[in-house]
Amino acid sequence: MLQSLQAQIPGLALWLVITIPCLVVVLGIIERLVVNYRLSKVDGVRASILAWNPVTSFYHFFKAGYMHANNRMLENFFSMFKDADPRCPHAVEMTIFGRRSILTVDPEHIKALLTTNFTQFGKGEMFHRTWKPFLGDSIFTTDGQMWQQSRNLIRPMFIKQKIRDLDILERWNDVLISKLPPSGQTVDICDLFYRMTLDAITDYLLGHSVDSLDNPNGEFTTAFTKVQRTQMLLAILAPLKRFIPKGEYIKGIKILEAFIQPFIEATLALTPEELESISKSDKEFTFLHNMALFSRDPKVIRDQIMAVLLAGRDTTAATLSWTLYELSNYPKIWSRLRSRVLETVGPDAAPTYEDLKDLTCLTHALYETLRLYPAVPFNVRSCLEDSTLPGKPGQPDIATLKGDHILYSTLAMQRIKDFYPPVSEKFADPDIYSPERWEHWTPKPWQFIPFNGGPRICIGQNFAMTEMAFTLVRLLQRYERIEYRGDWAAQYLKADIVGCPGQGVPIALYEAKQRY
Ligand code: HEM
Repeated sequence: MLQSLQAQIPGLALWLVITIPCLVVVLGIIERLVVNYRLSKVDGVRASILAWNPVTSFYHFFKAGYMHANNRMLENFFSMFKDADPRCPHAVEMTIFGRRSILTVDPEHIKALLTTNFTQFGKGEMFHRTWKPFLGDSIFTTDGQMWQQSRNLIRPMFIKQKIRDLDILERWNDVLISKLPPSGQTVDICDLFYRMTLDAITDYLLGHSVDSLDNPNGEFTTAFTKVQRTQMLLAILAPLKRFIPKGEYIKGIKILEAFIQPFIEATLALTPEELESISKSDKEFTFLHNMALFSRDPKVIRDQIMAVLLAGRDTTAATLSWTLYELSNYPKIWSRLRSRVLETVGPDAAPTYEDLKDLTCLTHALYETLRLYPAVPFNVRSCLEDSTLPGKPGQPDIATLKGDHILYSTLAMQRIKDFYPPVSEKFADPDIYSPERWEHWTPKPWQFIPFNGGPRICIGQNFAMTEMAFTLVRLLQRYERIEYRGDWAAQYLKADIVGCPGQGVPIALYEAKQRY
């Protein structure tokens, strides 16, 4: 029997060699015909076609996975536009596993996705399914009415009056400063920022911090990092997600839930009168209390807490890290910012909300960071009903079909030189970190969107800018000089959900010899 099988193997191999390519070609043709037929029923044309058959599509799919693993996502994104049709230079498309994906860096397309055609694009069902174990049915994963309800639930905690109370920021910045080594010694400030923002956001949400500055390898911190890493992989390789091991991911989520759950239970155990009374106290009233006023469902509260935890932690930590990375290369900018801080706040006092808003030089420094390193470098929307993305002037619109995915990259778009004014005395090369450019320049609409735009604009924008400016003030007050202690030029962007410096940010800070 073995012999007869051996005799059959060459024939079987030949059959496979002929059949598989034929099948691939036939599938490619069917796929193309189906998409063409659907496109013929709507207005608009295709974007530049990057891959029209399963072989080239698979090549691009696996290349994206490889480039992500090697932290070369931006290079990969740009390479896909290299051969785009000049009539549609900023959008390309490919179809993989029967699903059409359009990749764009065109500000007008992003505007259409996020505002003009807002209701026709959303997170979509696949995104919801992929993220559900971690973020449930929260503000991040839902569309339509469900999303609107989440947004209404969360909004009251981000009004100006709440953000003006800077006690939590002061508390965690003091701990951060206490963890810094003596003058001139090397520290990875990126690691400390990630721990500080985690402590601050858990305190803000739950009224209780995970104390990661004191306890860096705590279960919660480790689990949070692991869950995010697997989540990113699941999102990138969504069509293959069933093959990705999920044991650690599920275990990690359980650890996060075990930490949050007792606080939710304690809050839900409060009577409505007790809750009402706490809501009148600025200091005691937390995000959790606010949600319990509107929902008694522990699952609803768990999901929103998880979403804001994710949104509010890495984004600010990464932006602060990139800011210190850049400032360490520009001692003059550090000195200038320091002088402005000392003039406005003095050497010791904690800044007020008004101080932070007056310090426009800090806003410019942070905007410049967010221009070069937007915290959410890549994003996606799903086409919820047939729609279009605007064509270049004189060109037809691009048709989008229900179920299509639109991938857009704020990082890539904000690095396209054509979108900037020519280099001049007042406008440095766009590749260079230059906060001063913001004194004379306002970006064109939709060309600077680190917080996104439209109805789904980041709800924590003011909170984030306040938190980051507060931290910068505290560091600038204390340290007169900053020095990079690694290979500055070898730094790279590690793009997980949030893009952070892949090598950390090893620096030395020098305390001012003379207090003003
Ligand atoms: C540098 C800091 C930050 C940046 C660059 C940033 C950026 C963004 C972006 C790009 C989105 C849109 C995501 C999408 O719809 O696909 C977003 C949404 C969101 N952000 Fe932020 N974020 C930052 C900080 C924060 C903070 C500190 C919080 C809360 C404490 C927060 C809460 C949220 C929430 C809840 C959403 C979802 C809004 C919605 O879908 O309606 N963010 N953020």
